[in-house]
Amino acid sequence: MTDQAPVAPHGAYTGPSRVLSGVQPSGALHLGNYLGALVKFARLQHEIDTFIFVADLHAITVWQEPAALADQTREIAAAYLAAGLDPAKATIFPQSAVPEHAELAWIFQCVARLGWLDRMTQFKEKSGKHKERSSVGLYTYPVLQAADILIYKATHVPVGEDQKQHLELTRDIAQKFNHDFKAPGFFPQPDPLIQGPGARVMSLRDGSAKMSKSDPSDYSRINLTDDADAIAGKIKKARTDPEPLPETLEELATRAEADNLVGIFAALSGRTKAEVLADYAGKGFGAFKPALAELAVEKLAPVGEKMRGLLSDKGELDRILAAGAEKAREVAAPTVAEVKKLVGFWGA
Ligand code: TYM
Repeated sequence: MTDQAPVAPHGAYTGPSRVLSGVQPSGALHLGNYLGALVKFARLQHEIDTFIFVADLHAITVWQEPAALADQTREIAAAYLAAGLDPAKATIFPQSAVPEHAELAWIFQCVARLGWLDRMTQFKEKSGKHKERSSVGLYTYPVLQAADILIYKATHVPVGEDQKQHLELTRDIAQKFNHDFKAPGFFPQPDPLIQGPGARVMSLRDGSAKMSKSDPSDYSRINLTDDADAIAGKIKKARTDPEPLPETLEELATRAEADNLVGIFAALSGRTKAEVLADYAGKGFGAFKPALAELAVEKLAPVGEKMRGLLSDKGELDRILAAGAEKAREVAAPTVAEVKKLVGFWGA
């Protein structure tokens, strides 16, 4: 075993393309999750073989009420379907129902280096001042994420910008595994799919903070379950500056709150920020906010409504999740069997 990630050319992997991504069932989903992840999942399922899971093993890296966790998992599954994922096209499953993820994660913990994990900024943010009180799982979280991705030999991973570093770690683990176990091209070097104006949605109260489940202010985010009044009210109250919208992206980039709202408008309407500015440059927020509120209600209110409908039939959601888990295991189990052989385990 070597201690450094070897510098090897990418692309020795020649297998098929596959998309994989997931969302944690650890709180209400918001507009950032929707634009940064869910919308992309729904689009990609028409283009590539797509695996989308509910990251319940990741969720328990911080405390989750046992009595609520299964329902939280169903809620994410309902959000996937409401956002347009089709179980006939995409494989949708709970992570904990495919135990091979955890098995591969252990092997990857013996491939990844402490120094690599020490650099992970998300752990630093989440553990805060009390690192020693964090779960060990929170620290090794990105190694499990690498296992989620590589167990399906996924080549494309649609995520928000905050996941970029975890994807880099995944690539390092894939490369080191292939090198150490003399299996060039065994795991692919997955590409993150991050681009687009929805990749980093910021708080509606502070343009320098990410929109997040853990922000104490509910006015900082639009939840996928918010009704039309709540969505419009939050946009009306969103923090802005007194200037009209600028002509250029350069000027926009210096105004965090304005940039965020234009980005949200662009992502929801499937346009670029430049195209939105072409329509609204010189206009004040008195004109822009009502247009954004109308667009957000038009796009998001039906998603929340669909979610509520789907959640009223838990049996159907459970059937979809169980069938997805079975399909996922058909791909995951052979990968782990091959990995065990490469590692040299008895009986493999
Ligand atoms: P989670 O549940 O924190 O976030 C789910 C997805 O939402 C994106 N996201 C955002 N996108 C834009 N703006 C925001 N403000 C915003 N907030 C969140 C996240 O980038 C993510 O794509 N570690 C993952 C879960 C995971 C995973 C994986 C993802 C576990 N294993 C394997 C991909 C592949 C996470 O943090 O999810």
